[in-house]
This record gives sequence, structure tokens and C-alpha cells, in this order.
Amino acid sequence: MKPFPTTTTVPLLLLVLSLLHHSSASTPPGFPNEALPTKSGYHPVDPNTNSAMFYIFYEAQNSTTPLAQTPLLFWLQGGPGCSSMAGNFFELGPYRVVSSDGKNISLEPNLGSWNRIFGVVFIDNPIGTGFSIASSPEEIPGDQLSVAKHLYAAITGIIESDPLFKNRPIYITGESYAGKYAPAIGYYILKQNQKLPVEKRVKLKGVAIGNGLTDPVNQVKTHALNAYFSGLVNERQKAELEKPQREAVRLVKKGNFSDASMARNLLFRMLENMTGVATLYDYSKQKKYQTSLVTKFLSSAEVKRAIGANESTVYKYCSIPVRDALHGDVMKSVRYMVEFLVKNTKVLLYQGFFDLKDGVVSTEAWVKTMKWKEIERFLMAERKVWKVSGSLAGYVQKWSNLSHAVVLGAGHFVPHDQPLNSQAMIEDWVLDQGVFSSELERDFSSDSRQEM
Ligand SMILES: *[C@@H]1O[C@H](CO)[C@@H](O)[C@H](O)[C@H]1NC(C)=O
Ligand SMILES: *[C@@H]1O[C@H](CO)[C@@H](O)[C@H](O)[C@H]1NC(C)=O
Ligand SMILES: *[C@@H]1O[C@H](CO)[C@@H](O)[C@H](O)[C@H]1NC(C)=O
Ligand SMILES: *[C@@H]1O[C@H](CO)[C@@H](O)[C@H](O)[C@H]1NC(C)=O
Ligand SMILES: *[C@@H]1O[C@H](CO)[C@@H](O)[C@H](O)[C@H]1NC(C)=O
Ligand SMILES: *[C@@H]1O[C@H](CO)[C@@H](O)[C@H](O)[C@H]1NC(C)=O
Repeated sequence: MKPFPTTTTVPLLLLVLSLLHHSSASTPPGFPNEALPTKSGYHPVDPNTNSAMFYIFYEAQNSTTPLAQTPLLFWLQGGPGCSSMAGNFFELGPYRVVSSDGKNISLEPNLGSWNRIFGVVFIDNPIGTGFSIASSPEEIPGDQLSVAKHLYAAITGIIESDPLFKNRPIYITGESYAGKYAPAIGYYILKQNQKLPVEKRVKLKGVAIGNGLTDPVNQVKTHALNAYFSGLVNERQKAELEKPQREAVRLVKKGNFSDASMARNLLFRMLENMTGVATLYDYSKQKKYQTSLVTKFLSSAEVKRAIGANESTVYKYCSIPVRDALHGDVMKSVRYMVEFLVKNTKVLLYQGFFDLKDGVVSTEAWVKTMKWKEIERFLMAERKVWKVSGSLAGYVQKWSNLSHAVVLGAGHFVPHDQPLNSQAMIEDWVLDQGVFSSELERDFSSDSRQEM
């Protein structure tokens, strides 16, 4: 077995062309024709190598605006090293893999898909992940700046490849470890834009992060208390959990990021042991998330051909070489990038309520440390009760460019657990409407000033 796709002997241009023009004449059993991507292919990330990122694009199904102006969302999976095809076929894509027996896998339309009124592009990021090609192990990024440079090449390449993409508002979205990637590419785009003429700029309009790891030191300190106040561990166990937490923080302060990441892993293993939960990603579940269905589905040569991926790529849901390359990056913060984003575009942070890894408490812990002139007013803003079709969906707090949403009845993979509510959330946030409309903002700090 080869751990990496080896350098291809076919020139990259040929590879791109052959895959872009894949025939959609026949689809495999259980794969309806309507489920085919609008477009898919590979984009090079560096002119000097054969490394390339794989993407799948689905046009908006029921767009309410001309397509040339319809928002375009880019989705990034976490990991590090997990494939955005999970986001596509397990969470928010137009069709999701289902199976009643774990063997007979088929696709089912997703009424909560995020491409109802927006176009969505799923990118396998970084190179070496999913169907994306790393022409050598050394090229796999080990830090967020390198991740952002590759993503920038792919995203601008995709936008330039289609006249319908040129003027569309762009949103970067993602989950989990994309709590690093999304701020990194958003920050990189805005910095590049400052140097470019208007027509060459990426029309970035917002960044959304679901259950993200963004500011690990502030986040890692919350697990013991969160588990204790959720009733999952007792006071003695809380004290046990605080040891690896303190160790992780101590190691970061010494600059020993790799061992800090191991301390965090130990913390999660202990939490798993103590609570006996099926998965830390959702403590309400009796079983792990069935993401293995996606791997099974994508292991078929016919399916790979149908989606325009290289048939000889051995598909893995999560890449171990990519995870290892970013091991030393795990405990590094990108909070300063979010601080820059919130001053220059809008940011949504949302979390599924039952996640014990990157959940609500862990997000609020770093948000309150943000350096931004509006942060105090954000923290004092009303946390609104959020309803979808008359039912309680969660809570939304918004002030100026920053929004925070808590999604009830969901774990780490929010669009999987709450498809319709996640769709309502992303649509209302992008369009500044409903619970995200600015007119509804209430500032309790100024309320109290008015009373004086
Ligand atoms: C697919 O990948 C294999 C192995 O990496 C490579 O040899 C082959 O040229 C690729 N096929 C195409 C059509 O690019
Ligand atoms: C597989 O599942 C699909 C959807 O549930 C069903 O329509 C189909 O008949 C099944 N095929 C087999 C061979 O069991
Ligand atoms: C788009 O509209 C069609 C026709 O009204 C409907 O059948 C379909 O379910 C809609 N798609 C989504 C994702 O809502
Ligand atoms: C990192 O921390 C571990 C555990 O405390 C220690 O054994 C190791 O020597 C440290 N490594 C470096 C490079 O400081
Ligand atoms: C978890 O529990 C198992 C079995 O009880 C034990 O062998 C293991 O050492 C525990 N791991 C941790 C990290 O506590
Ligand atoms: C919010 O973002 C806009 C750009 O979309 C920017 O002009 C504005 O200054 C930002 N507001 C704050 C309070 O940072």
C-alpha cells in the first residue's frame, strides 16, 4: 500500500481536463442522475508540483436570485485531514448516503441541503485529504499559512474557471478543525484583497464555523467544568480531568505544541472512559456517527467515476499523513485572525449542543477574550430564542458583525443532526434575515444607560 498518491505521469493539465469533462452518461446503482455534481475536478495549488485539490460543486436548486449573483459557499471539513465528502454525503449536500443494513448503500435527497438557494463547493483540504493529491509528503502543510496559500490557489482557480462565479458573493464555511482553516483562508483572502485591484479581489462576505477549534488554550480549559456541570462526572473526576488540561496549557506556554496536543488527546480519552459515551461528538447518542458509510460509498470505482474523482485513489475519510503533518499545529491559536475577520466581514460561530469536544462552553470561553471594539456589547447583547417553523431550534446572539448560534438536538455534525434547522440558520445568516436581521439587535448595555 502506498501511503501517498505518487507523482502522476500524466501532465496535470490533462488530468484536469479529463476529469472536468467526465461523462455523466451512466450512474452506479443507488446513485440517481440528479445527484451528480453540477461540476467537479482538480485545481493545482502550486505551479511547480502536481499537487491539486479536488472539489465538487452543486448549483443552487431553487435559487431566488440570478445565478451570477447567487451566494457561493465553500465548505471545509475538519480533522485535521478529514474529507469534505463527509460534509457533502453525510451532512449538508443535496444527497446523503443512507443504509438500513450497513451494506446496501444508496443516496437520498436531503431537504435540509445548503444548496437550496446557494451554490456550494466542497473542497478536500489540505492536499493529501480525501481525493486531493499531495505529490510528495513534504508538500502537505504543517501550519495555517501554508494551508491558506494552497486553498487560495484552489479557490481563486475555481472562481476564475467559470464566468458564472466571477461576481458571486463568497462565504467560507466549515466545521471542527476548519475552526482553523476558515479563519486562515478568510484572513489570507482579505490581506490579498488589500493588494489587488477591485476586479481581482475575492468577494468574501462572511465566514461561518461550526463546532470549531480556534483558540485551543482557552478551549481546552473548559472540558472538566463542562462535563461536571452537565452531570457527566463527579467532583473527584473533574479534578482528574483538570490535570491533563493544566498540562496542555503548561506545554503550550513552553512552546512544546506537539506534547500539548498529546495532553489534550489524553484528556479526551479520560473523558470517554469516565462517561462511557458512545462518542464525545454527541453525548446524547447511543452509537457513533456512521461516517463509515461515506467511505464505503466512495470506495466504488463507479462512484468515483460518477463524481469525477480519480478512480485509482484509495479513498480514506481521514488521512493519517495529513493529521500527522498538522499535529504541531493543533494547539496553536488563530483567534487573532477571527479578530481581523470580524472587523472586515461577518462571522458566524455555531455549535451543536451535545458536543463534548468543541461545544458551546468551549466557544464562549474564547469569544469573551476577543480583542474587538464591539466585544463588550456583543457579550451584553440579547441571546434570542430561535424558532424554526414554530419549534424551538436554539439560541442566537448577534451584535454587529459577530453572530453566535446554539443548535439544540445536535452534536458535532450539526447539519447531519438538524438538517432543516441548519439550513434555516445558514440561509438567514447569509441573507441577514429572521433571527439574524440587524433591526432586531438589542443592546442591553445601552438599555441600562438609558435608564440612568
Ligand atoms: C490517477 O492516480 C494515479 C495514481 O496516483 C495516477 O497514476 C493516474 O495518472 C491518475 N489518473 C488520472 C486520469 O489522472
Ligand atoms: C437498497 O436500498 C434501496 C433504498 O432503501 C432500495 O430501493 C433497494 O431495493 C435496495 N436494494 C437491494 C439490493 O436490497
Ligand atoms: C426545490 O423546489 C422543488 C420544486 O418546488 C422541490 O421539489 C424541491 O424539494 C426543492 N428543493 C429543496 C432543496 O428544497
Ligand atoms: C515536551 O514535553 C514533554 C513532556 O513534558 C517532554 O518530555 C519533552 O522533552 C518536551 N519536548 C521539548 C522539545 O521540549
Ligand atoms: C480507559 O479504560 C481502560 C479500561 O478500563 C484502561 O485500560 C485505560 O488505561 C483507560 N485509559 C485512560 C486514558 O484512562
Ligand atoms: C463590520 O464589517 C464591515 C465590513 O463588512 C466593516 O466596515 C465594519 O467596520 C465592521 N464593524 C465593526 C464594528 O468592526
